[in-house]
Amino acid sequence: MSAVAQQSKEQTGASYEGSVRTDLVPIFIMGKKYDVPSTLTIQKAFEYAGYQLIRGCGCRGGICGACATVYRLPGSAKINVGLACQTVVQPNMYLTMIPFFPANRAVYDIDELKPDAQTILKYYPELAKCMGCNTCTKSCPMEIPVMEYISAALRGDIEQAAEISMSCVMCGICAARCPAELGQYNIGIMCRRITGKHINPRAEHLREMIERINSGRYEDPLNKLVNSDLQTLRKLYVEREMEPHTAPEDWAPTDKAFL
Ligand code: SF4
Ligand code: SF4
Ligand code: FES
Repeated sequence: MSAVAQQSKEQTGASYEGSVRTDLVPIFIMGKKYDVPSTLTIQKAFEYAGYQLIRGCGCRGGICGACATVYRLPGSAKINVGLACQTVVQPNMYLTMIPFFPANRAVYDIDELKPDAQTILKYYPELAKCMGCNTCTKSCPMEIPVMEYISAALRGDIEQAAEISMSCVMCGICAARCPAELGQYNIGIMCRRITGKHINPRAEHLREMIERINSGRYEDPLNKLVNSDLQTLRKLYVEREMEPHTAPEDWAPTDKAFL
């Protein structure tokens, strides 16, 4: 390897022999072959191949669930799934992104819902069609036991359904694979909303904070900040009192102007 190629490899991770990259692997995006660097995620491989992602691309960090992807590998009939921003390409993977999958989404007034199985079944009657095949669990890129939260919702254990489904990013892959045509993620979020509204205790500190805001307590200090010049804001920011790493739970800054 030339000195230039070696330097480039060290700086970018790319491999060159002469002027030809040697770290490329073939992948098939919607049936068309592209050679892409082997270290790229599927999302970056799309862009390397020339696609501009205006759908199916949000946080790029495995949080928003916008980049659901399905792929097959050579010699296997298995349909693999993953988030494009989190899954690294493999040689000869055959893939496409499914940035949206339509699922039943109920409209309801959260104030009027009761935390029981009848409520969930009223808005999502297809829940009763679940046949316990576990395909949803096996297809979830977040490794959520999807069938378990669906079962919990079906037996009216709303709180458990909320707890199990908490890390759902709503990518829709489970819904795409479900033979009973459930939209699991919308059922999960309904359970989380009902739990937050009707089961969990009210957050007392939040009520107190809202009262303080409504009383106008922060108007003056906020206006003072809004009307400060850049230099003053920088000084305030640099000199602000930081919370120590090992502070007790009731730690508070000495200056309580914004508390
Ligand atoms: S994929 Fe559908 S039918 Fe199968 S367990 Fe999950 S929710 Fe039930
Ligand atoms: S539960 Fe379904 S929608 Fe949620 S992350 Fe898993 S596969 Fe995606
Ligand atoms: S872009 Fe948000 S999860 Fe992939």
